[in-house]
Amino acid sequence: MSTPIIDGLKWRYATKRFDAAKKVSDADLQTLQQAVNLTATSYGLQTFRVALISDPNVKEQLQVASYNQPQLTESSHVFVFANMLDVSDEYVDGFIRLLAETRGIPVDAVQGYADYIKGSLKGKEPAFIQDWTRRQAYIALGTLLATAGELKIDTCPMEGFDAEQVNNILGLPEQGLNACVIATVGYRSEEDKTQHAAKVRLPLEELFL
Ligand SMILES: Cc1cc2nc3c(=O)[nH]c(=O)nc-3n(C[C@H](O)[C@H](O)[C@H](O)COP(=O)(O)O)c2cc1C
Repeated sequence: MSTPIIDGLKWRYATKRFDAAKKVSDADLQTLQQAVNLTATSYGLQTFRVALISDPNVKEQLQVASYNQPQLTESSHVFVFANMLDVSDEYVDGFIRLLAETRGIPVDAVQGYADYIKGSLKGKEPAFIQDWTRRQAYIALGTLLATAGELKIDTCPMEGFDAEQVNNILGLPEQGLNACVIATVGYRSEEDKTQHAAKVRLPLEELFL
């Protein structure tokens, strides 16, 4: 099967070495940011935020916090996905106001939806909430990787980092956030041998039951 999206997904790989001289353009960055923003999330709440890093000093600190993986400094930009530690009633109310404003309807018309969301979260343990918000961030990660692949922009999804260190570097806990997954973004180095390795995937008949 050959379609732009499948071609992009075959082209992409978890890039180990980026060409530090090549930078992603502002226009492409905007497209990637839009793709992340357009991701489906539970109730549409978007219970994560993304720190977009290009500052070389911050990238160096992130590299130390990521077991010295070179992608952090060699890539053009670093997307740090951070899930919310809590989803308050006030946050849900803010979302409902945005929804009403965007669709040109009174808040009262969606009050039932607001109450339903709040009811579903009421009394839930922080660990439950954080597991749920974390999953939303991963959906966005997938959207980012697929979109970048289609644009022929390289990425590496990364969980190999010390979350506490990354949180402290970026001041995330003060904002009610926790770093859960990173994507480094840029252009592959010719020296990265991984790009020549065949993709290892299950036959569809085994993956699909
Ligand atoms: C959530 C997640 C975390 C990952 N963490 C790392 C990482 O810290 N460092 C790294 O080099 N690759 C990391 N990878 C890349 C995987 O090893 C890679 O996606 C997998 O081997 C499949 O290869 P492909 O993506 O090149 O097709 C991660 C991938 C995912 C989805």
